[in-house]
Amino acid sequence: MNQTLAIIKPDAVTSGNTGKIIAHLENAGFSIKSLKLTVLNRVQAEAFYSVHERKPFFEWVVDFMTSGPVIPMVLEAHGAVEKLRGVIGATDPAEAAEGTVRNLYAESKGRNAIHASDSDENAEIEISFFFSQHERFSSG
Ligand code: PPS
Repeated sequence: MNQTLAIIKPDAVTSGNTGKIIAHLENAGFSIKSLKLTVLNRVQAEAFYSVHERKPFFEWVVDFMTSGPVIPMVLEAHGAVEKLRGVIGATDPAEAAEGTVRNLYAESKGRNAIHASDSDENAEIEISFFFSQHERFSSG
């Protein structure tokens, strides 16, 4: 079993799609190992997206991710990182496959409903960003 990090983004939380997205992820076979609702400050959002700090959309992403509540969660499944990226679909909802989370719930390339870690290494870093060890459920 592997773990990955998903974040339901402010657009999806404020538009009332949290429950539908969580159900979608559970129906796809993920087990939730940790979950919280939180609000990122600018320092936290800049740190989380620091790999993109030279991209033209960096300030926009920081503004957006601090604009409302987010719901980070630790998800577990076989091949969790790749599996979740398939389930959520392409970054741009116009390119996301039918039935994926972003196809169903994203508004645009920026307001795209959900984040997913892109590698096992980054999953561990991103999980630790939001959750301490004692907040992570382990079934052994
Ligand atoms: S890149 O350039 O390929 O590394 O970027 P990508 O992986 O597609 O996206 C990285 C995150 O930035 C967001 N993004 C954008 N936000 C606003 N405007 C534009 N044009 C844009 N392009 C990418 C995208 O949603 C990714 O956020 P996360 O949280 O990682 O899904």
